[in-house]
Amino acid sequence: MSSSVEYAKAPNYVKNAKLVAWVAEIAALTKPAAIYWCDGSDEEYARMCDLLVKAGTFKKLNEAKRPNSFLACSDPSDVARVEDRTFICSEKKENAGPTNNWMAPAEMRTTLQPLFDGCMKGRTMYVIPFSMGPLGSDIAHIGIELSDSAYVVVNQKIMTRMGKAVYDVLGTDGEFVPCVHTVGAPLEAGQADVTWPCNKNKYIVHFPETREIWSFGSGYGGNALLGKKCFALRIASNMARDEGWLAEHMMILGVTTPEGKKYHVAAAFPSACGKTNFAMLVPPAGFEGWKVTTVGDDIAWIKPRADGKMYAINPEAGYFGVAPGTNFHTNQNCMSSLNKNVIYTNVGLTDDGDVWWEGMEDDNGGVKPAHLIDWQGKDWTPAIAKETGAKAAHPNARFTVAAINNAALDPEWDNPKGVVIDAFMFGGRRSTTVPLATEARSWVEGVYMAATMGSETTAAAVGQMGVVRRDPFAMLPFCGYNMSDYFQHWLNVGAKFKAAGQSLPNIYCVNWFRKDANGKFVWPGYSDNMRVLKWIIDRVEGKAQGVDTMFGKAPLFDEITWKGLNFSADQFKTVTSIDKAAWAEELKLHEAHFQQLAYHLPKELVETKALFEQKLSA
Ligand code: OXD
Ligand code: MN
Repeated sequence: MSSSVEYAKAPNYVKNAKLVAWVAEIAALTKPAAIYWCDGSDEEYARMCDLLVKAGTFKKLNEAKRPNSFLACSDPSDVARVEDRTFICSEKKENAGPTNNWMAPAEMRTTLQPLFDGCMKGRTMYVIPFSMGPLGSDIAHIGIELSDSAYVVVNQKIMTRMGKAVYDVLGTDGEFVPCVHTVGAPLEAGQADVTWPCNKNKYIVHFPETREIWSFGSGYGGNALLGKKCFALRIASNMARDEGWLAEHMMILGVTTPEGKKYHVAAAFPSACGKTNFAMLVPPAGFEGWKVTTVGDDIAWIKPRADGKMYAINPEAGYFGVAPGTNFHTNQNCMSSLNKNVIYTNVGLTDDGDVWWEGMEDDNGGVKPAHLIDWQGKDWTPAIAKETGAKAAHPNARFTVAAINNAALDPEWDNPKGVVIDAFMFGGRRSTTVPLATEARSWVEGVYMAATMGSETTAAAVGQMGVVRRDPFAMLPFCGYNMSDYFQHWLNVGAKFKAAGQSLPNIYCVNWFRKDANGKFVWPGYSDNMRVLKWIIDRVEGKAQGVDTMFGKAPLFDEITWKGLNFSADQFKTVTSIDKAAWAEELKLHEAHFQQLAYHLPKELVETKALFEQKLSA
């Protein structure tokens, strides 16, 4: 090691020479004051939390109200993923595609070198071993994150299978994805630290060919917890393409019928479409005997096996979910899971040491706390909020909670073999045009539906509000290679099944967000999405026929179970109607989208669009 600092040696249970050499190499570059090899124990977690409390990064919450839980408030400039600072540095620009920022790998390495040189001075470099997926599963993969943030260590302990046991799987020569993370705020001798170190300059960099991740300048979420978006989606999508599997931005749920039959559905929704709520759905009154269980809330790794079935695992072990808007009405299971052992980031702190965020008043008859300290450390009262618009919680405030806190956790969630996927769902937020639910008549039609999926931007997203942003497969910010090649990969997976005479899961396009002429949502959503889910299961079981429409097979009014809900045939028409003029416009937008993705765009998608056009004009 070139540094004059005497670093702690790797523990004797670390037997992977490549890993030990790489840690030494990164230490020589980043020059931390110390190296700490994380073992992932509960004792270590408690120690790290204490350290974060002492540093002022964490506030311990009221032990009686939220046992073993903490609040972190970030720097106001470091509150979300930074898509404009996220790069896919493939050797060839066209392999990153038009939807990713690209820089040539050599140029990026030259850019990063001076930034990482000495970036951990005065800090500890933590070596964080983690498995994405059940340890030892043939679908799982190992990563090692080197980070100078204790906040990252404790979050990774919740979000991944993190700790010593990873080294047993890694052995002497196992493969791992190297992930280097720094907050980019070295401390000179005697310099006092801040509670949330970060750097205005940020780089979230992926080298797909060498499967490396380098993250500089942010301590927050998907920028810093490198197992999540960086590894499990951007790097893993490359691995999946090369190895014939799927790495998807999908939640996975289990649904058990009153007859005791169990199915699994994987569903992709862009941000702000209620994906976590759907993953934890509680069936409404009228659905007695139905059970919905959570396998995952955000990411699915899906492996086709020789038996002709697709097996999915949730590579994560916890949920890093958006807090605002979550309450007992929108997500009862989630709220119940947040009662202990949680890390909250950027929510409000009540005067009795509890947390609060916008939306929680719905659980309290509309009453908000009389006073609290907001996520920026300022006094907050309902009057101040009314006058200035100040939010108690940042709109992207988060909770980090272990999957095992979820009372509706699927018993198979940790099964190394994965669960069999029976149906895929794709859904964006569209106030017009896209019907409540349609089933693709073929795999290719389903891939088209997913490839052209769009969602209206909300206040929490960047840019203009209410504009439809195309978000193919909900993978726009997460696909680690050229989007059209990704479409081709999905088609190839389907074609391989077909060639082997194997049947594929059905694909559905859903939209919970249609509005009426007065701009009001018509579909009740939340628990009532169970009605659509049941129709999907009925289709899988061959119990519902559906009706052909221009954009797939739709449910008939009488095929939906309405027990417990007053929903008229007219309202149903409002959420399911296909407006010819709107669809003519929509198909023009698909055309523009395809033009942007023209390089390697599969011809099947162009042909499918022509078929839709024909159907529309018939
Ligand atoms: C997330 C996202 O944080 O999709 O899961 O943005
Ligand atoms: Mn997500």
